[in-house]
Amino acid sequence: MSETILSTEGLSKRFGSRWAVKDLNLDVRAGEIFGFLGPNGAGKSTTIRMILTLLLPTSGSVRVFGKEIRRHRAEILSRVCGIVEKPDFYLFLSAYKNLELLGSLSRKVTADEIFEALEIVGLRARAGDKVKTFSHGMKQRLGIAQAILTRPDLVILDEPTSGLDPQGMKEVRELVLKLSREHGTTIFLSSHLLTEVEAVAQRMAVLNHGELVAQGPVSELMNDGSSYFTITASPMEKALELLRRVSWVEVVAEGNGIDVRIDSLRAAELNRLLVTSGIDVSSFAAKRTLEDYFLKITEGASEV
Ligand SMILES: Nc1ncnc2c1ncn2[C@@H]1O[C@H](COP(=O)(O)OP(=O)(O)OP(=O)(O)O)[C@@H](O)[C@H]1O
Ligand SMILES: [Mg+2]
Repeated sequence: MSETILSTEGLSKRFGSRWAVKDLNLDVRAGEIFGFLGPNGAGKSTTIRMILTLLLPTSGSVRVFGKEIRRHRAEILSRVCGIVEKPDFYLFLSAYKNLELLGSLSRKVTADEIFEALEIVGLRARAGDKVKTFSHGMKQRLGIAQAILTRPDLVILDEPTSGLDPQGMKEVRELVLKLSREHGTTIFLSSHLLTEVEAVAQRMAVLNHGELVAQGPVSELMNDGSSYFTITASPMEKALELLRRVSWVEVVAEGNGIDVRIDSLRAAELNRLLVTSGIDVSSFAAKRTLEDYFLKITEGASEV
């Protein structure tokens, strides 16, 4: 198991009487892309602000590179590139000038390096243009150019694809993967979209109402429902009757399809049993419980 790069312990933040983040224990490891998933208002930005010391926790602590962030703030933050919600740039300066200023905060950057970073994110031709003329997507990409340029050990991106069109989302996703592959940078990235996290992250944490719901490898979390299946068959009544009779099948729900829980190794056997009993099976699909769960909490999350 690789070394822990970022961890939080009992991290909590209360605004008035409401807990925005409650008792959060995160564990982000070296070289991985870590997805921080949660619906709107879950507490993602609040957590990121506390990690970047922009906000004081009500309780709990943050460790980065093995050290407590408040005690080693300057040392740690010089190795971190954090972009919260939307990248902040000097709007009346050019993309080049912005990168020159931001890049020089951490080290001496050369013109070649700045142009190279702009080239990677597809903004080379706009180097001399004022950032105020940039679209939202271009600003996101400039944020990533900043991350490439400053060569941090840890990049923290808060919803880097939010507000982008599908093409823009894809470009940012590819840049994140590139940053990870080519520089081995550890990337912590928040999103309210499961598909986004699934596309890039190796491990993830799911947050809802400020509390941790799940944390672990994306593949494991996504497959934790492999023993749940949804069956669509006709005639439906006959299928249901048969499924209820089989001792090793538990019928969980019925609606458009029939949801069952079985030992996933017996899926093919069950499919065969239905077919040989004269039932037409039009679909037999593994259900992804985390996905269902996440969709459910996302639907109910907006006006909390
Ligand atoms: N400065 C603040 N004062 C009071 N409440 C706040 C403050 N900042 C955040 N909150 C509350 O904390 C909760 C979490 O907000 P946060 O911005 O961290 O969520 P989020 O997961 O980043 O959401 P989104 O996906 O919409 O960006 C919300 O209920 C929000 O209203
Ligand atoms: Mg947010």
